[in-house]
Amino acid sequence: MGEWKGFTLWMTGLSGAGKSTISDVIVAEFERRNVPLEVLDGDVVRENLSKGLGFSKEDRDTNIRRIAFVADLLSKHGTPVITAAISPYKDIRNEARQLMDGRFVECFIATSLEDCEARDVKGLYAKARSGEIPEFTGVSDPYEPPENPELTVETAAKTPEESAQQVLDYLEQQGLIPAAS
Ligand SMILES: Nc1ncnc2c1ncn2[C@@H]1O[C@H](COP(=O)(O)OP(=O)(O)OP(=O)(O)O)[C@@H](O)[C@H]1O
Ligand SMILES: [Mg+2]
Repeated sequence: MGEWKGFTLWMTGLSGAGKSTISDVIVAEFERRNVPLEVLDGDVVRENLSKGLGFSKEDRDTNIRRIAFVADLLSKHGTPVITAAISPYKDIRNEARQLMDGRFVECFIATSLEDCEARDVKGLYAKARSGEIPEFTGVSDPYEPPENPELTVETAAKTPEESAQQVLDYLEQQGLIPAAS
């Protein structure tokens, strides 16, 4: 602690874009480099901190504001944080950016809707298309891509390791983590 600057790597992207998968690779790499890290994954947060919240605009905003609140507390005391939630609304992401002024790295996991839907890891797109799941981001609910993200990560025709490496390279270049030895 204190050796490295706290920051929040704020991942945003559609369901199935690769946020959790890339975050898992980064966690392992941080461990290898002895850099502390806390992850706030959308699915995990909705099971505890945001249990009971739904997917209306209001509930989504509340969920994201809670994630930003915790990420701010941790990162301002020197702990790097990854948030891995869809975070579809630009204005709430910008709120988080202002809250963590100078510590906020917006990372757009830029997988197309077509690719996410073809993956359909959790079978949710099929349910969204059939109407079984309402208010599904990208299908029946908005996703507002970032206009000026610090980082845009492509995943098409890339392995999760290659995509994660793009993030690690950026963090190294910014002096936020030590170079791999
Ligand atoms: N380059 C890549 N980076 C990340 N994931 C990839 C890549 N190529 C293929 N995939 C696959 O895409 C899927 C991404 O799913 P993942 O659960 O990580 O998405 P997510 O963004 O966390 O979605 P959700 O918002 O629903 O939690 C995984 O099955 C993963 O193996
Ligand atoms: Mg996920």
